[in-house]
Amino acid sequence: MKIQKHGPVESGLPPDDTHPYRSGPWRPQVHEYDAWDLEVEGHIPEDLAGVYLRNTENALFEPVQRYHPFDGDGLMHAMSFDNGQARYASRFVKTDGFRAEQQACESLWAGIAENPGLAKAETGSGARTMMKDNGSTDVVVHRGSALASFYQCGKLWAMDPITLEDQGPLAWNGWFPSDGVSAHQKVDAHTGDLLFFNYTTTAPYMHYGVVDRDGTLANWTEIPLAGSRLPHDMAFTENWSILNEFPLGWDPQGLADGYYKNRFFNDTPTRFALIPRHGSTDQIRWFEADPTFVLHWANAYEDGDEVVLDGFFQHNPACLGYERPSPDFKGFESLDINAFASRAHRWRFNLATGQTREESLTDTVTEFPMINGRYGGRRHRYIYEARGAHGLFAFNGLIKRDVESGTEELFEFEPGVFVSETVMAPRVGSRGEDDGYLITFSIDVNADESQCLIFDAAQLAAGPVTRIRLPERICSGTHATWASAEDLANA
Ligand SMILES: [Fe+2]
Repeated sequence: MKIQKHGPVESGLPPDDTHPYRSGPWRPQVHEYDAWDLEVEGHIPEDLAGVYLRNTENALFEPVQRYHPFDGDGLMHAMSFDNGQARYASRFVKTDGFRAEQQACESLWAGIAENPGLAKAETGSGARTMMKDNGSTDVVVHRGSALASFYQCGKLWAMDPITLEDQGPLAWNGWFPSDGVSAHQKVDAHTGDLLFFNYTTTAPYMHYGVVDRDGTLANWTEIPLAGSRLPHDMAFTENWSILNEFPLGWDPQGLADGYYKNRFFNDTPTRFALIPRHGSTDQIRWFEADPTFVLHWANAYEDGDEVVLDGFFQHNPACLGYERPSPDFKGFESLDINAFASRAHRWRFNLATGQTREESLTDTVTEFPMINGRYGGRRHRYIYEARGAHGLFAFNGLIKRDVESGTEELFEFEPGVFVSETVMAPRVGSRGEDDGYLITFSIDVNADESQCLIFDAAQLAAGPVTRIRLPERICSGTHATWASAEDLANA
């Protein structure tokens, strides 16, 4: 094993920290690593080529007042595979906020659970303004760069996808939206288009954009919502992009009084905006559906006159009845997948009639879906989902859903072992939708270690076929992506 350990970065947290999202599976790291020739159980497949990237919200300093896990700084992990060899790297996302707080050795911005007016900095980012753009929510790879993003809208922080070398904030021919972009950009693997959106507290409340594979802005359009909302994800088909207006937003009276409080309006329908990929505001087709909130979409595709959308319908978006594991979890209701009870769900938008049909696909509560990226925007059969630990934002099981047969296959981790958002990596020369590997990072609190786990995607329930030990136990995080060597070579 060859390991280069860098750091530590500046950190001001106590060694015996008991905050539920700065301890246990969320224990933060202060070092960055490069590692080769790692300890392997099993065999690294020779037909696995590309990189698994996973972002992290990694706490470094005491909050101004009250820490929320989404406040942590971005810490990117990359496990790249080439010809039976694996290489690991981890780097903090070098945002302006990260650099400023490293200099100051303290938190300079108020977090999501705090009043923005508590910020010590004079400027800030995000749809609610005055936040630190921490680049810690999601990561996609476009035009050969890993792009770290912030769900509250910020810059896209570019990194080399293998070495994680900092490439600075992204701009397309010198342009970037002044209000930033939200997390959950989408890359169409077939066209190389990057699709994205942002949201604000003032009309038109949302914008949608497309940058093509050459880095040229191909669309930038207003999506006029009925009011300020908190959209989190978008979907696409070959011809349509799907934006949403769920009845979850900041309380209007609170906004008028200068504070931000989430509020779900349970008697207000959901609205979806379907817009041709390169279309304009007057070409939006609006569809109504049952009130809910959806964090993440699995995929969408076209089926005759219909656009089919699979995502995770929250049956209890207000998280009523949440049982805290301990008093320390007060205020973290909406981090528990089981509390908001999200279940796989299918919407069908009929472009001929303007009607929506929707149905629940299961009684099983899951979220954080992934598909084989080559099927993005095309008809898919399989969705790979995460099961949530009760009370805690952490994943303790993986489910492979077959939407054709309606069956689910489960792999459950032992108590104390948690995993990351899990990607599907088609094998080189892949011949089918599930012909490839599922890749994740584990956080094993019992053994105090992390591993990169590789499953055969066709046999999830058989368990990992390969385990690669990381240099240090990593912190739980949210989103991940897979970029194949072929995609990186063609960038
Ligand atoms: Fe997300």
